[in-house]
Parts: sequence; C-alpha cells; structure tokens
Amino acid sequence: MTTLLRACGFALALFAMTGAGPVLAQTGSSQDPDAQAQQERRVTQPGNNAPVWREVRSGNQGYTSLPGRETGVLVQSAGETWRQIRNGPVTFYGGWLVVIVALVLAAIYFALGPVKLHEKPTGRMIERFTLAERWAHWVMGISFVVLGVTGLIILFGKHVLLPIIGYTLFAWLSALAKNLHNFVAPLFAVSLLVFIIMFIKDNLPKAYDFTWFARAPGFFTGRHLPSGRFNAGEKTWFWLGVVILSLALVVSGAILLFPNFEQVRLTMQQASVVHMVSAVLVIAASLGHIYLGTIGVDGAYRAMRDGVVDEEWAKEHHEYWYNEVKGGRKTAPGGAVPAGAPHMREKP
Ligand code: HEM
Repeated sequence: MTTLLRACGFALALFAMTGAGPVLAQTGSSQDPDAQAQQERRVTQPGNNAPVWREVRSGNQGYTSLPGRETGVLVQSAGETWRQIRNGPVTFYGGWLVVIVALVLAAIYFALGPVKLHEKPTGRMIERFTLAERWAHWVMGISFVVLGVTGLIILFGKHVLLPIIGYTLFAWLSALAKNLHNFVAPLFAVSLLVFIIMFIKDNLPKAYDFTWFARAPGFFTGRHLPSGRFNAGEKTWFWLGVVILSLALVVSGAILLFPNFEQVRLTMQQASVVHMVSAVLVIAASLGHIYLGTIGVDGAYRAMRDGVVDEEWAKEHHEYWYNEVKGGRKTAPGGAVPAGAPHMREKP
C-alpha cells in the first residue's frame, strides 16, 4: 500500500511539475477555487504548482477505487509533524535526559558511595520476596531492559551507532532490534499486569510516606528513614514508572504493533509520540531504580535474587515492615516470622 501511494505521489509530482494540469482539482468541480488559482498561476508563474500541493497537503479525501481507510488521502501531512516531533524535541531532550540521569547517578555513587548498614548484620534472614514475586519481577525487569535497549537503538541508533559501525552492521542491528522489540513486547505486557496485581497492596500510600518524602535527601547519606514494606520512593516508582508510564507504553505500543483495528495514521502518530515520551521517561527513571537495586544500596540485590534480607537490613531500611513481621501482625513475606519458621533462616 505504501509503495502504491508513493508511486501515485511520484506520478502526480511529475505530472504537476510538467504543469500538465491540476490533477487533484479535476476530482472537484470546475469552479473549484484551487483549480482556478492553479490555472491563473500557470500563466503568471509557470512551473509554480503551489495550489496543487496545497490541495494535496489539505488531507482531503480524493476519489479512489481502492477500498480501505484513508486510501483516498494521497499525502497525510500530520506525518511530517510527527517526524519533526520525533526527530526534534523527543530525540534531543529524551537523549539528554537519559545521559544526564546516568551521569548524576555516577556522581552520587562516586561522591557518596553505596548506602551501607550502620550496625553489623545479625545473620538472621527474613523472607522479603516469594519465588512467585521474584519471577514476576525478573520476567518484567528483563523484558523491560530488552525493550529499553532495542528501543534506544531504534530511536537514537542512526545518530549514535551508524557513524561508528557503518551501514551494513547498523542495518542488521536495527532489523534485529525491531524484531526483538516486537516479539518481547507481549511478554512485558503480560508480566506487567501480573506484577501490578501482586504488588499493588503493599504500594498503597500511607501517612508515614509523606514524612519519608520530606526527609528523602537523607536517604543517600545513610540517614535512617522508617518505612513500610516499600518506602515512598519505591511506591513512587511503582505508581509512576510501573503503573502509569509502563501501562501507557503497553497501550500505545499495542496500537502501533497491531494496526488492524481500523486505526488511522493520525492515531498511530499520536500513539507513537505517547510511546516515545513515556519510554524515555521510564527508561531514565529505571536507571535510578536499577542503581539502587544493585550497587546503590548494600543488600538490596540479594532481596530480589534470593528473596531474603538480613534482619538488620529490614530494621534499618523498612522499620515499620520489620516491626509488623516481628510482631506477627502479618504473614510472610512481610509476615509473621516466629523464630525457627521456614522463612526465618540462619545465615549459612
Ligand atoms: C533489570 C534490572 C533491575 C534490577 C537489578 C532490579 C532490582 C530490584 C530490587 C533489588 C528490588 C527489591 C527492592 C527492595 O527490596 O525494596 C526491586 C523491586 C522492584 N522493582 Fe526492580 N530491578 C530491575 C528492573 C526493574 C524494572 C525494569 C522494573 C519496572 C519496569 C522494576 C520494578 C520494580 C518494582 C516496582 C519493585 C518493588 C518496589 C515496589 O513495589 O514499590 N524493576 N527491584
């Protein structure tokens, strides 16, 4: 279809350039002001076919015997607006946002180092994440990283990689990135829904989350900030990054991936802008999450890898949750942990 439209456009362009006639105007009445303007123009400014192109760019439906949505629209001009938004502000600000966030995190790490425990670990481990929770997290997290990396190649590759690796390699890489992106997306969508259902309860806001926010800068200098199973920073990441932005990514991505629901080009262009903007925002935020989940906070990665944390870690990072667990007001994870229970293990 695209090829056919292009061929039609090319034929029309040739026809119009030769001044052979106002092709589109012929589809309207002979009194069509555009047709008249074109006729006058042919006399006063031979070769200048602006009225024809104005008509083409108006997006009006012309006659076509081809069935299907928008087949009578020769050139859909909003496509040019979409191209300018994509290759202009989205690429420029989005690219710099990701780079600046990475630099800020590197600066925090080198200036302050990882957040460490104040007291010695006790050696007694508390279950923090069940196996099902860890699977849900890792399927979503790994598919997100694959989508993020391939998406960055699709958006920035021609500016950043092409000049370095050349056309042949970049053609292979971008085709691979596109296919990986398309096939991993459904896995991310399903795991995202499972993850949200599993984690929503412990991310509901509580009054103490506001106090946490007010004292948040102290987090990086190792200040003790009591919180529930998840602190206010993690809850923000859950609601903004996982629920709002990731769901926006999934919905806009589905509109782009399955163009078989009668969506018109404008809908797909709008979906594409939503997709790119939410992608760069959530990728930048995910760098902060991945930093804190690996080298930024001692002991955090083990929680998601093995599902357990030291009691001292729980007390210093999530005191209210720790108290609930110790007080037996909850069942694990985040639950009652009587001494000797299976989820309260001695460190080997
Ligand atoms: C691939 C690299 C990633 C690493 C190393 C990582 C690491 C971690 C760790 C260690 C935790 C546990 C934190 C704690 O015990 O409080 C965690 C929790 C979590 N992760 Fe990740 N993660 C990664 C990717 C992602 C991605 C891509 C997402 C979202 C799309 C995500 C969303 C979450 C959420 C929502 C939580 C629980 C916090 C909450 O529900 O408030 N993670 N992650």
